[in-house]
Amino acid sequence: MTRRGFLGVTAAAAGAAATGWIGGAHLLGPGLPGLLLPSRLPLPRPYQVPLPIPPVLDPVRHEAGTDFYEITQRVAELDIIPGVRTPAWTYGGSFPGPTIVARSGRRAVVRHRNELPEPTVVHLHGGHTPADSDGYPMDLLLPTGDAGGASHAGHGAGGLARGSREYTYPHEQRGATLWYHDHRHGVTGYAVWQGLAGFHLVHDEEEDALGLPADDHDIPLMIVDRSFGADGSFLYPRADARPHSHGVAAPYMNGVLGDVILVNGAPWPVMPVEATRYRFRLLNASNARRYRLELDPQPPGGGGLVQIGSDGGLLPGPIAHDALDVSPAERFDVVVDFSRYRPGTRIRLVNRLGSGSTADVMCFDVTGPAGESRPLPERLAQGPALDPGRAVATRTFHFQLRPDHGWSINGRPYEPGQVLARPRLGTTEVWRLISDFHHPVHIHLDPFQVLSRDNRAPGRFDAGWKDTIDLHPSQAAEIAVRFTDHPGTYMIHCHNLEHEDMAMMADFITE
Ligand code: C2O
Ligand code: CU
Repeated sequence: MTRRGFLGVTAAAAGAAATGWIGGAHLLGPGLPGLLLPSRLPLPRPYQVPLPIPPVLDPVRHEAGTDFYEITQRVAELDIIPGVRTPAWTYGGSFPGPTIVARSGRRAVVRHRNELPEPTVVHLHGGHTPADSDGYPMDLLLPTGDAGGASHAGHGAGGLARGSREYTYPHEQRGATLWYHDHRHGVTGYAVWQGLAGFHLVHDEEEDALGLPADDHDIPLMIVDRSFGADGSFLYPRADARPHSHGVAAPYMNGVLGDVILVNGAPWPVMPVEATRYRFRLLNASNARRYRLELDPQPPGGGGLVQIGSDGGLLPGPIAHDALDVSPAERFDVVVDFSRYRPGTRIRLVNRLGSGSTADVMCFDVTGPAGESRPLPERLAQGPALDPGRAVATRTFHFQLRPDHGWSINGRPYEPGQVLARPRLGTTEVWRLISDFHHPVHIHLDPFQVLSRDNRAPGRFDAGWKDTIDLHPSQAAEIAVRFTDHPGTYMIHCHNLEHEDMAMMADFITE
């Protein structure tokens, strides 16, 4: 398609939105990023509990080049809201699940055992993973003791498993902040809301050489919103109250929003910090909520959140932000230098897109003695390398609400096995992503680079390698992507989990 054709498509998308074909959603409040589900218990006061750090998972054994891990998925009762207990679906008994810490080039094999009441699927988000371990939404891991397996289908390369199965992660990829979460067809929103999410970090030598904050100064922060029932349980408006039901109740199809913000599973926690630099791996693991994160107060001179990495690892150089827009599934690796504040200062991490209880996220208390600011290295990592001028194909994907069948890509609701694209391994392609609404679009297997938004330069949060792009309403973005190494079936989908479950997902096959 020519530039001019592309402009035509953009205008068509914008025009359609203006004339209201997304009006099929009028009852949902067009443009609203989701519907708030109020908790049925008194909300706790913010800044009362310490920030938890998810446990790091020890391998059960090593072999040359491979670490073996085991995770049991089970219901556990968590202490989240004072005075009540929250039964959660967990990886290994905690929410977030245990953090897997891996090395680039070193293989991990993770055996998952499912002791939950329903089937699951594990996806390593951001992983450069062979198709049979990628967590295709139909490749169910049935619970131990599930006798009705014959009624389920395992459509992907991974097939169907009962009780337990192994996922293999070669880690032939750069150091980056990845995360793992459930990916079952039609039920991802419910399963993740119930607690199935954890960090998976990959380190590499390029990062080691930089002297970035490490160990207890390298902190993953998983930010989610949740709502609670009067008994402390996670509230979620499943389409149908019976177990195994797919999707979300119609009023919530734009997305489910909670009124309690959890960071690493704790409501509005507090973290005491020394007056020095910390690295924070920010992950928005919310189903549908977008955040604009900002430190309040800003340090003198502003630019308190210094971004060093994106979804796909370190940036070429640091970028100082006053605020960060983070859509579901995006990761921003930032360094905060608390020596820019006086000891004794309380700094809130706030959400400028929230209101009331969702305007607060967590806070940091700077402890003495005063420290000294040190600049970060000006160069962090090798620059992004894809050349869109060498693209061998251009494809267009429309992310739209269709009055006839809900959220769709190129007019089709998700149907396992229906293939939308067949990119060739090792070649660069340009993909045009066109939206009617906010859609955080995620692509499996390999990261991409944002080339443009609405024919203008990429936005301030688009730097580096991305695997999720925060598409704005009526927007057309271009990305360059190159798939490598692994032939098979992968996914492109919206990471608003209610949109995903309500069919805004498609298969593509690399060959
Ligand atoms: Cu984080 Cu296909 O998902
Ligand atoms: Cu969406």
